[in-house]
Parts: sequence; structure tokens; C-alpha cells
Amino acid sequence: MTQTKHFDVLIIGSGAAGLTLALQLADHAQVAVISKGQLEESASLYAQGGISVVLDQADTLQSHIDDTLIAGVGLCNEQAVRYTVEHARSSIEWLIDQGVSFTKDGITSETYHLTQEGGHSHRRIIHSADATGREVETTLLSKVKSHSNIHLFPYHIGIDLISSRKQLGQQDNYCLGCYVLDITTDSTVTFTAGATVLATGGAGKAYLYTSNPDVSTGDGIAMGWRAGCRVANMEFIQFHPTCLYHPKAKSFLISESLRGEGAKLLLADGSRFMDAFHPQAELAPRDIVARAIDHEMKRLGDDCVYLDISHKSKDFIESHFPTIYQRCLHFGIDITKEPIPVVPAAHYTCGGLITDLNGQTDIAGLYAIGETAHTGLHGANRMASNSILECLVFAQSAATDIKQQLPFADITQTIPPWDASRVKPAREAISVSHNWDELRRFMWDYVGIVRTNERLHKAQQRLNLLQHEIRDYYSKHRISSDLLELRNLADVAQLIISSALLRKESRGLHYTLDYPDTDNSQPAKDTIISGKY
Ligand code: FAD
Ligand code: SIN
Repeated sequence: MTQTKHFDVLIIGSGAAGLTLALQLADHAQVAVISKGQLEESASLYAQGGISVVLDQADTLQSHIDDTLIAGVGLCNEQAVRYTVEHARSSIEWLIDQGVSFTKDGITSETYHLTQEGGHSHRRIIHSADATGREVETTLLSKVKSHSNIHLFPYHIGIDLISSRKQLGQQDNYCLGCYVLDITTDSTVTFTAGATVLATGGAGKAYLYTSNPDVSTGDGIAMGWRAGCRVANMEFIQFHPTCLYHPKAKSFLISESLRGEGAKLLLADGSRFMDAFHPQAELAPRDIVARAIDHEMKRLGDDCVYLDISHKSKDFIESHFPTIYQRCLHFGIDITKEPIPVVPAAHYTCGGLITDLNGQTDIAGLYAIGETAHTGLHGANRMASNSILECLVFAQSAATDIKQQLPFADITQTIPPWDASRVKPAREAISVSHNWDELRRFMWDYVGIVRTNERLHKAQQRLNLLQHEIRDYYSKHRISSDLLELRNLADVAQLIISSALLRKESRGLHYTLDYPDTDNSQPAKDTIISGKY
């Protein structure tokens, strides 16, 4: 028997976007937050460098806007960029009001240390040493836990959205909630709500090597697309240039802010190489740095390059980068004395579900915020530290929009319960785990930093076979979180490959040897894929 739970607002995901929205709404509505793992587990928790915001007297909003537009290589929506940049300061002030502590500059007790990252022409990254995400996520979570109108459901994974078209056979498509698997009891729960919000983060786990945590499997993008939302610019997967290269270090990032503080990229022989690729050298936009590293590794047959900050004092390194210092030391690398072996890894999903400036998707009652959304802020390449900012700004605007609609009309129509009558328990998990591995490997090999038509077609063929197997398995077996994630990753991989095949040029993060130039003969266009339903 499926249980039903009703709330004013259902938020799927408890990263920076989901928690910010929950807090913004909690004094006005009954809010449920579901999360498929422990509540704090999210990309937000691991964010290092910080959050971009214009605070320095010498900096301007226009400069932040211009830098974002340049990094986005002609594909940013200027309105979304302006909106985000103009709301940055109030978002940071809100975080400080919640109790988030940022590193001060030591000049006055009021002023904050601002670091620098790729693409930014000024120091404008506010941060909490090198663990900004942990400070933001844990502070917001403790506030959320103490609010009586916020109802928390860890270990609950969204399966599929409930829509009037699909579940009630209506012509109009509006969202009524989500079918959810309670992982702790292995039972399904029907969550209904006046507004449903996808805040499920990105899809780095579609790739073999990624900086992302295990939860980043693109579930919200896949669920929204299956329910009928359009998706934009999925070919733009950002590869972070510098993840730690060590056999035992799973997805550990070496923040771009090291380069902001003067760290240099080196080849194995100790020589620098970034000057040959871009005038901003180590601080060029991320797509350029990642591609340069990939090029040098392939040219020399090397497994990694090196990042060296050892010219800075031990005190400086230990106080600015305590997490990175300790983590590297744990693996036997003393970054105060020696360079760090690094490689690029899938880091950020620039595309996503198309939303307006309020986070509203194509389906009434369904919002998408944070990395799941495509607001138009990032264009063809996200500038460093603009991502948490986007989570905060659009959670705020979605909250304002949702509050204006309260109270919601009664939607307690008869929603069919989740139907598990025709499936049986899976006898073994091997085919799910095999398909996971296969997908992530061919995405890395064929849909990575440098693409070709031939590689993309190979990936497409393999994906077609996998999709067939997954559909067959899904229709016959009881769902598990691994199976749900695999199905979502396959849908997201489909969106990435199709979008990459549609773009007949190289631009920003999408680089293909078949069309190595950017097509400037006409205005740049988003790659838009219609909703599946
Ligand atoms: P997340 O924080 O990823 O949260 C997603 C949530 O959704 C999780 O709680 C997850 O469990 C839940 N979820 C997912 N699917 C389901 C489902 N089906 N059902 C229920 N729950 C689900 N950006 C910056 O701006 N500055 C930085 O310094 C920075 N550093 C970074 C460092 C690392 C290592 C990484 C990986 C990213 C970094 N980024 C940074 C990017 C930034 O952290 C993310 O883009 C941002 O935190 C995403 O927030 P979010 O709330 O959208 O998603
Ligand atoms: C980093 O600290 O290098 C990550 C910053 C980001 O992804 O915005």
C-alpha cells in the first residue's frame, strides 16, 4: 500500500539551492525536503573556492557581468547574468544573517578576504578558507532542522514526477508532486504538493572521473525531461582542470583559488605551459585550462600535470588551504614543499531544465533551481564560483514566486498510486553495476574534453543498447536507488550526446575536432531538446 503525504511545497534535494529555498519559504508554508542520502551529502558540501560577489571598491557589477559573458562565449542570457550579479550582495548578506562565517581579510573586523579565480578580472570570491561549501551547507542545515514548518526526509529518492497529463490524462500539463522511494523501508510514497521544486544538482557521475559526489546523477534533469520539460545546452559539461591525481583519492578537487593565489601549472620536467595557450595563463577560463592540460598530457603521454604553490609560505598555505593541505598530506604530498599531481575531471553541468528568472520550468507548478536548471547564466562555460551564487539567487526568486501563489488550490485529486504489481525483486545487481561502469567509461572516452563526430556516434550506439537493456530491466524488476540512478544517467547521457551532435561548431566547453572553430557568422544559439513526454 503506497502512503501519501501532502505539503504546500515539495523540494527535492538538500544542497545549497534546496535548503535556501526551504528557509525562504518556511515562515509561509509547510515545506517537505527530500534527499536521497544523508541530508548534507551534496556537491554543495564539497565546494571549495567560494562565491563570487562584487565587494571590493575597485570592482563593479558591470565588470562581473562582462567577465561572466566572456567566459560564456556568446551564449549567456544577459538578463539572467545581470539579474544574478545584481542580487549577489543581498544573497551573501542573507547567508551571513543565517550564521555563515566567511574568512575576514584581517584589515578591519568587518571586511572579507576576497580571492581570485579563472575568468574574473578582479578579486571577488568570498570564501570560508577552502571549505566554503561545508560552511554554507552545515549552517543552512542546522537552521532548517530547527524550523517546525520544514519536514525532512533523508534517504528518500524521487522516482518520477506526477503530472496532470501523464497520471490524470489531462491536456494541460501541471505538476502534482513526485513518486518517491523510501530507501529505509524499501517502500514507495506519493508526495503531493502545490509546488514541486527540483534542486537535485548536476550529473558529473555520467563520467568516469569526476569531482562530484555519488549523488550527482542528474536525477532532476532526467525526471523533468521525462515529464515534458525542455532541456538546454547539455553539451556544455565543465571539466575542472585540477583534481588530485592519486590512486586512492576519489574525486578530490584542488581549488582554482590556488591558482588565484599564484600556483603554477607545470609539466613533469618542471616547465610552465599555460602562457602558450592564453594571455591569462593559469587564470584563463576553465575550458581553456582543462583543454590545455588534456593536450599536454596526450602530447607527452603523461598521466597528469602538476600544480605548484610551494613558493608561498607554510603559514599562508596552511591558513588559506587547510583542507587541501591536510588531504594531500594524508596521501603523502606536502604541498608546502612539492607540486601536486593533478588531472581534469567532469565537474559541472552547465545545461539543464529551462527556467525563467523565477525558476519556473515549462510545467506549471514545477520549478528547477541550482545546477539542475538552465537559467542562461553560464552560457557555454560557467565562470568559477558563479554556481553557488546561482543557487542562492534563484532559490530566492523561486520563493518569492511561490509565496505569491499561496494558498494553493486543493489538488487532492485521485492520483494513482505507484504501480509495482507487475515487477519482481531483482535476483542480482550485476547488470545494473556493469551498465553503470560501461556508461561512465564510454562517456569519458567518447564524450569528454575533446570530441569528434565519430566518437559521439560510437557513444550513441552503445547508449542505444544500454537504454534498451535498462528499459527492459526497469519494466520487470522492483526499483532500487541504483537502478533509478542508472536510468537517469542514461537519459542525461542521451541528452549530452544528442546536444553535442547538434552543435556543429566548437564553443566554450564543447570542443570538436570536426568543427574546431566557433561559428561567428550568426548569433550563437542554445541547443534545445524538447521534453520527452
Ligand atoms: P547539490 O548541492 O548537488 O544538491 C543536490 C541534492 O539533491 C543532494 O542533496 C542530493 O542528495 C539530492 N538529490 C539528487 N537526486 C535526488 C533524487 N532523485 N531524490 C532526492 N534527492 C536527490 N561552485 C561554486 O560556486 N563555488 C565553488 O567553490 C565550488 N566548488 C566546487 C567544488 C566541488 C568539489 C564540486 C563538486 C562543485 C563545486 N562547485 C562550486 C559547484 C557547486 O558546488 C554546485 O554547482 C552547487 O553546490 C550545486 O548545488 P545544488 O543545490 O544545485 O545541488
Ligand atoms: C574551485 O574551488 O576550484 C571550484 C570553484 C567552482 O567550481 O566554482
